[in-house]
Amino acid sequence: MRVTLLQAAKILNHGDVVAIPTETVYGLAARLSDVQAVQKIFALKNRPQDNPLIVHLADVSDLSELVQKIPDSFQKILQFWPGPLTVVLPANTHLVPEIVRAGLDTVALRVPEKSVTRELIRLTGPLVAPSANLSGKPSATRMQHVEDDFGESFPVLDDGPCEKGVESTVIRLTEEGWTLLRHGALPEEALVAVLGDADLTVSEKSPRSPGQKYRHYAPQCELILCHSRQELKNQADSKTHDAILGFDDTLDEGERISLGPRDQVDLCAGNLYAKLRLLDDRGCKRVLVDMDFEKSGLGKTLAERLTKAANKSS
Ligand code: TXA
Ligand code: MG
Repeated sequence: MRVTLLQAAKILNHGDVVAIPTETVYGLAARLSDVQAVQKIFALKNRPQDNPLIVHLADVSDLSELVQKIPDSFQKILQFWPGPLTVVLPANTHLVPEIVRAGLDTVALRVPEKSVTRELIRLTGPLVAPSANLSGKPSATRMQHVEDDFGESFPVLDDGPCEKGVESTVIRLTEEGWTLLRHGALPEEALVAVLGDADLTVSEKSPRSPGQKYRHYAPQCELILCHSRQELKNQADSKTHDAILGFDDTLDEGERISLGPRDQVDLCAGNLYAKLRLLDDRGCKRVLVDMDFEKSGLGKTLAERLTKAANKSS
């Protein structure tokens, strides 16, 4: 159910939960200091308690009281805020409730790009917000997705489809270096250009974000990843699929669902969640996926999300 900015602020300030837009995906928001409302988020999403939440700030200046120490390298990444970059720093545990941190001594923070979101946060104070989907389902990139998961009467501050369409990139910053915990809407290359890659650790090789161990972004249907055109053709020839998730020029064998032009991976990544939800809406059971695209920039994020969506055991 669509609510206005002022209604959303009122609901939050009364201790309830509202879906909010961001440039990445819709979030399920509660006030940072409102532990009962934060508990509602975990219950609504059916989210494991050991998966911490991101704190959303209106301004960079709101950061200092929530963290213990800001590493020197933080100055360099300020250019990405507001924007789709989440930074994990040692928390001021007095002001960041344990439930938000899932018991860790760190906190994840970001300043979202959308001005309406920051306007809301100015009326409520910092908001915690995981993606506004049931745990395990594809994230919500438009109001309809939120209503599909939480019902039509669920309050949503609607601001149209999210521009980026994939979650923020998550990094941890320490004096010793930085670790990429989750690929996301800010390409790794952009970070490396600013931070340098000397001290970069990528999540595969390091302790990951707690959320990375859960099954994510997954539709109900089975996804079969085809890494070359030949593999896709061979699979399609066996005619056991209901649809092909691919690009505008992917072979149109059976029902093709296109993410967009193959050479525009940013756009395609942004369409991913809507198309994964569409596959389920159409009742698809077995879907071939065209993985023949550039794996740089958001292509890396797209490949990672598709791999996770296909891997039902993780
Ligand atoms: O774009 C986004 O990041 C969206 C919008 C709403 O801001 N939010 C989002 O939240 O994707 P969520 O909860 O779906 O994903 C947050 C990720 C999880 O993988 C979680 O484990 C990780 O961030 N995270 C949160 N706090 C952390 C911490 N203290 N240390 C390490 N990872 C953390
Ligand atoms: Mg999520």
